[in-house]
Formats: sequence, C-alpha cells, structure tokens
Amino acid sequence: MTSTDDVRTESAALPVVLGGEPRPPVAAVPWPRPAGREMELLAQVVRSGDWAFDGPLEAEFERQFAAYQDAEYGLCVANGTVALQLALEALDVGAGDEVIVPGLTWQATAAAALDINAVPVLADIEPGTYCVDPADVERLITPRTRAIIVVHLYGSLADMDRIGEIGARHGIPVIEDCAHAHGSRWRDRGAGSWGTLGCFSFQLFKTLTAGEGGFVTTNDPTLREEIYSLRNCGRRRSGSLDEHWRPIQSGNYRITELQAAVLLAQLDVFDDQASQRDRNVTRLEAGLAELPGVAPMERPPQRTRISPYEFAFKFRPGEWDGLSAAAFRRALAAELGVEVSTVNEPLNAAPLYQPHTKRRYRLSDAHWEAVNPARFELPAAMHAFGEGVLLPHKVLLDDDAIPAVTAAIARLHAHRHALAR
Ligand SMILES: Cc1ncc(COP(=O)(O)O)c(C=O)c1O
Repeated sequence: MTSTDDVRTESAALPVVLGGEPRPPVAAVPWPRPAGREMELLAQVVRSGDWAFDGPLEAEFERQFAAYQDAEYGLCVANGTVALQLALEALDVGAGDEVIVPGLTWQATAAAALDINAVPVLADIEPGTYCVDPADVERLITPRTRAIIVVHLYGSLADMDRIGEIGARHGIPVIEDCAHAHGSRWRDRGAGSWGTLGCFSFQLFKTLTAGEGGFVTTNDPTLREEIYSLRNCGRRRSGSLDEHWRPIQSGNYRITELQAAVLLAQLDVFDDQASQRDRNVTRLEAGLAELPGVAPMERPPQRTRISPYEFAFKFRPGEWDGLSAAAFRRALAAELGVEVSTVNEPLNAAPLYQPHTKRRYRLSDAHWEAVNPARFELPAAMHAFGEGVLLPHKVLLDDDAIPAVTAAIARLHAHRHALAR
C-alpha cells in the first residue's frame, strides 16, 4: 500500500467519539520522569543534615541553571509566583505602582503584582503568537508604570526586540516570566537573560521540576543581592559586597536542599529533552501547516529554540462545517488519550483571578477600582481562548506522537460532518 493509501485508510477509521476503536495513548510515558541521580543525591542530602537552604547542591544548581539560561546570576526561590513577586520588589515596585502584564497568562503573573499592592494593568496579545502585544504595552504606559512583565507562552517567545526597545525608551524594566520557557532561546540567547530579571517555575508539570520551586535570573549584581535578601528574611548573602547591598524587609521564600538535589538530577537530562521538544515542535508545526481546519502559530525567526511547557495551535472554525472548538478538543483528546485544552482564560474574566474577593486589596476605593480586571478589554486574548488548542509537553517527548497527532486531526476533519451533528 502506498503512503497515500495509508493516510486514506487512517482517515476513514472512525474517531473514538463516534464509536471507533480507541488507539494506544500517545505520550504514555509518565511525567515527572526520574532522570537517574535523584535517589543518590537525595540520600547524600539526608545523610549530610544539610536539609534547608544555601546548601552545596543549591549553589551548584544555581550556577548551572543560570549559565544554561545565559544569565550571570541565578537564585532558587519557593515557587514561580514568588519569583515574580520578589523580582518586582527587587525593582522597588510597590504600593499603587502600575505593572503591565499580559491579559493571557496563568493568574500568578498578575497576582504577583497584586500581592505587593501594585496595580496589574492587563495588555492584550498578538494574535499570531499569543504573547503580549508590544503596541498595546506601549499604549498602556503611564507615569505610574514601574515594570513590564512578558510571558513566553505555549511555544512562543514574547518579542524581546520590541519590548526591550520600548522598556529602554521609557526607562521601564522588563521582567520575563519564563515558567513555560526553560531552555528556550530568542536570537540564540536564553530566555530569562533578556529582561532585567527572569522568573522560572519548577512546579510539578513544568519541563524542569522538583514538585515545587522557582528561580530568578539577572545580570545585575545589585539585584542578585536584593533577591537573596528578599528570599531569606532580609538577610545579607555571605560574600556580598557593601556597594550591592541594602537592608530590606522580607520573609521566608527559600527552597530546600532536597529540592535542589532533584533539580540537579533533572538538569542532567534537561538539554536532551529540550532538544527533542524543539525538534518535535518543528515537525508538528510543519505537519499542522499542511492540514485543513487547523493552523500553527506564527514563528518569528528570532525564536531560535523552543522547549515549551504546553504547545499551542489554532482551530479554524470556518473549516469544520459547524463543529465547535470545544467538541474538536474533546474528540482529539479521545483520539490521542492525552489532555487537550484551550489556553488560559483571559484575566479580565478568569475564575481564579478575582481581586475583589479579598479585602486585603481594598487599600482605598481608587485602588479597589484600579485592580478590577473587568475594566480591561482583551479582544485578541478572548479570541485565542475560543480558538486555541493546547497539548501537554510530554507529547513532544514522544517522537511517534507527532504523526499520531496530525493523523488524528486529519481523521477528525474527514468525519467533521458526523462529529458536528
Ligand atoms: C506563566 C506562569 N507564570 C507563573 C507561574 C507560577 O509558578 P508556580 O506555580 O511555581 O508558582 C505559572 C505556573 O503555572 C505559570 O504558568
């Protein structure tokens, strides 16, 4: 049989939601995946009694991961949310200051600003990449703007050329939220090394994980000392120089040596996994570009390497004879045996971003109104919420999953009339 015949036979097979035979699930490998050295390093930590923070494995991980992302300095912190919060505080952002944040992201990006009494200002996204729209960022700048947070989302990187230029022209620092972008590169330089600070999450489902954890990168020696003090109750880092240090009020946002042990072990295999994800993103996007009914995201040439946490593509409703995006996602999940979702709900309407549910944010009537996310309009983010399709990154760690995904979409398209009924 020719490969064209193969494709035809495959496409004729009944989709699972129409009663077809379920296929073996793609990406059946578990996540997280032990890399090898975890138990050995954990045993070493347990024996050493060095269970808390500032241990040797933490120092080693900080050195290795900062270098991997092309940053001068890196510091472990409790989680990705705290990383963003401390990054803002290191920049002395506080009460009533405005922080521009993409309207399409996980709520933590905005909540980090909210929790330091700043005002998150929600910018819309670029339809082609789902990352923050530089033109909208510039439109939202006021004399009160103290920081811009960009998020590298779903296999895209925010336009660091344009955002960097806007930040520099207005004298506003840029923070990169890299929770989805460990190992990703813009113009062949690591995510987290472009902005004034970069923030990472090591939460369980992220591509580099210790169950929980976070990381802050910077090239600025003063900000390094600030982040150290902020994560450690205001204490001074041993070895810090007077010129880079000031006393600062803070709490405990530290990580443990047990987490550092797991992170170091995971880092052993991370680059191979990141390369595999990058290769499979290229393969999958090439495949999607050939299919009716769907489209890959725009890929600017500056995105030189991508190792996403979730992979996004677009559903084109006009090409499915009435099948809804939600029904398509359900049918695709059934074909593949993996979770298929839409993008995050835009923050002006997200169930988990509700500043008005906590009296803590009622600093004044004016502040209460300023933090109301419903005052922002985010048409492009809303559109993305309707059309976006997300696959988990473990699909990209299974080379055989790539043809399975494109075949499943072709099969669904061939049966679109029956599916839409
Ligand atoms: C874009 C983004 N930023 C920040 C975070 C916060 O990270 P954490 O869960 O480690 O606090 C997440 C977590 O999912 C995220 O997706």
